[in-house]
Amino acid sequence: MAGNWKMYKTAAQTTEFFSQFAPAVASATHAEVVICAPFVNLPAAVEAAKSTNIGIGAQDVFWLKEGAYTGEVSAPMLAAIGCKWVIIGHSERRQYFGETEETVLKKTVAALEEGLTPIVCVGERLEEREANATEEVLARQFQGGIQVLDAQQFARIVIAYEPVWAIGTGKTATPEMAEAAHAFLRSQIAGHFGQAAADACRILYGGSVKPDNVRGLMEQPDIDGALVGGASLAPASFAGIVNYL
Ligand code: PGA
Repeated sequence: MAGNWKMYKTAAQTTEFFSQFAPAVASATHAEVVICAPFVNLPAAVEAAKSTNIGIGAQDVFWLKEGAYTGEVSAPMLAAIGCKWVIIGHSERRQYFGETEETVLKKTVAALEEGLTPIVCVGERLEEREANATEEVLARQFQGGIQVLDAQQFARIVIAYEPVWAIGTGKTATPEMAEAAHAFLRSQIAGHFGQAAADACRILYGGSVKPDNVRGLMEQPDIDGALVGGASLAPASFAGIVNYL
C-alpha cells in the first residue's frame, strides 16, 4: 500500500502526518506500507518513519549517479538518506515531463542498482480506452519499459496499473475493469518471464482509491495493492485504506 504525495506538504507537515499515521498502521502485517514524499521532505519522512513499519520512497529519480544535470536527484543520493522505494514513470511525469519507455527503463535499472524498489507505473489515457486500445498501450509500455529487464531485475520491481482517466478525477475503474487490465499485464509477464514470475509480481492499482472502494479492488485476484494519491494525504484516510481488511 503506497501513498504518492505528489507536490504536497512541507517538512513540518510531513512530520505531523507521521505522528498520526504511524500508530494507526503499526499493527498492519498484511501489507508493506510506503509513503512517497517530495524530494526535500524525504529526510523528514525517513526520520519520522524510523522504528515503524513504514518505508519511504521518492517519486522520481535520474538514471545517472552524478554529473552536471541541474535539478536532478540520483539513486545513490536517495539510497544514502534511507529511501527504499521510488515511483517511476508516473503518468504525470509522462504527460508533463517527457517521460518515455526508454527513460522509465533507464531509471528502473538505476534504482535497482542502488537497491531501491521501483514502482513502475503503466496505464492508458481516456482516449486510448475509448478507442479500445487499453491492451495495446499496456503491451507497449510493458515491452518498452519492463520486458527488457533481466529476470533477476524483474523479480525486484513492483508494477502499478493507473488508468490516467481515473487519477485524481474521482472516477475509479470498477474492480472488474481494473482486474481485466491487471490480468492482461500478468499474462504479458507470464509470456515473457514465465508463470512463476508473473504469480510473484505485485501489481498495484492506482486511480481514485479511497477507504470506501479499496476493499472491492483488493478482492480481485490480480490486484495486490494500491498506489494512492489524494487519499494518502490525510492520516485517517490512508490508514483506512491500509487497514481495509
Ligand atoms: P489519486 O492518484 O489517488 O489521487 O487518483 C493516484 C496516483 O496518481 O498515483
